[in-house]
Amino acid sequence: MKKLISAILLSMSFTAFSQGNNYAQDYTKYQRLAMTPPMGWNSWNKFACNVDENLIKEMADAMVSSGMKDAGYTYINIDDCWHGDRDEKGFIHPDPKRFPSGMKALADYIHSKGLKIGIYSDAGSMTCGGRPGSRGYEFQDALTYAQWEIDYVKYDWCNTEGLKAEGAYKTFTAALKKAGRPIVLSICEWGGNQPWEWGKNVGHLWRTTGDIYNCFDCIKDHGTWKAFGTMQILDKQEGLRKYAGPGHWNDPDMLEVGNGALTPNEDRAHFSMWAMLAAPLIAGNDLKTMNEETKKVLTNKEVIAINQDKLGVQALKYKDEGEFEIFFKPLENGDWAVAFLNRDKASKDFTFDWKANSFTDEEVSKKVFDTQKQNYKLIDLWTGKNIGTTSKVLTAKVPSRDILMLRLVKTK
Ligand code: GLA
Repeated sequence: MKKLISAILLSMSFTAFSQGNNYAQDYTKYQRLAMTPPMGWNSWNKFACNVDENLIKEMADAMVSSGMKDAGYTYINIDDCWHGDRDEKGFIHPDPKRFPSGMKALADYIHSKGLKIGIYSDAGSMTCGGRPGSRGYEFQDALTYAQWEIDYVKYDWCNTEGLKAEGAYKTFTAALKKAGRPIVLSICEWGGNQPWEWGKNVGHLWRTTGDIYNCFDCIKDHGTWKAFGTMQILDKQEGLRKYAGPGHWNDPDMLEVGNGALTPNEDRAHFSMWAMLAAPLIAGNDLKTMNEETKKVLTNKEVIAINQDKLGVQALKYKDEGEFEIFFKPLENGDWAVAFLNRDKASKDFTFDWKANSFTDEEVSKKVFDTQKQNYKLIDLWTGKNIGTTSKVLTAKVPSRDILMLRLVKTK
């Protein structure tokens, strides 16, 4: 009987749709997008409001010529300040001086390179940069982005007085659904309304913190708001790993690699930790002028493979000795990634007895790490060298503010 009633109800709801019930909304995101953490580039960290179509095209060109595309980077994301005005019907247009060819032409250019294009808007009346926000224009804006063939939208949270985050983001996801083009939705609400609790079916990634600041270990106080160095952002990821997985990622903000404030070893530690966290890898530097050192960090395929592993499990913090932390990330094929992070200003000598450190990842993957049962060889992902196996105690040194990142490869 129950089955019959639900069958009748189901057929009634189908009827409602098939008769062109245009008020029906679907408040869930497009499924099967961003099944591994999105990889790309975004204009904000380096260029802030100083964006135009030439810059964006140059970055697309450089993404290809630098080897970034081959390493897996796909999205070219334009952040704040691309906007011009709305027309008399409310449709948004790009700034005609900065984007004279229009967004569709720019999208065509980026697509012709085998890349994807992202854009930025805001749930409030204005963006953080004071440009037109999407509040009240959600469906029009989503339709416009779909017509421009946009692939990714970062949706910010400035000027949202009186709005509730979950509802506001659901409205926008419904608008994207209605517009009919599968678009990745990046929820940029800074973590204040626990997006990890409601974001899974609404967006594909959600910011977990306020903005990153271009330093390894500091807090920048802007008065009404604070921005956080890489280590402060890392600390704010505690407790969140259970919310992440394929199609729905914690986003600890875009990379500062290559932006000049971090030393090469700090850049390496920052990048490695974002890889361990299964974080989106969105470069934020000038791809055109980056030096070899930066390129080496951003295109390290072995480290990227850890980030892009299909199991999609965020690393767990196994040990916290203050300035020295150890992280484990289980991988799809039974291997593990292990990171020994030295946050200190002094170098760190340590030993690690694999045999004395068996555990099960009860919280998320249920994977068992037990070197009594399974031996692994140790590959240093920054030198490419095989540095032994888990049958021996590891003795190593990590320089100041640097990382030893290993892939533990199963031996037979
Ligand atoms: C907010 C976001 C940043 C950036 C700026 C743009 O601060 O968190 O990532 O998009 O707005 O104004």
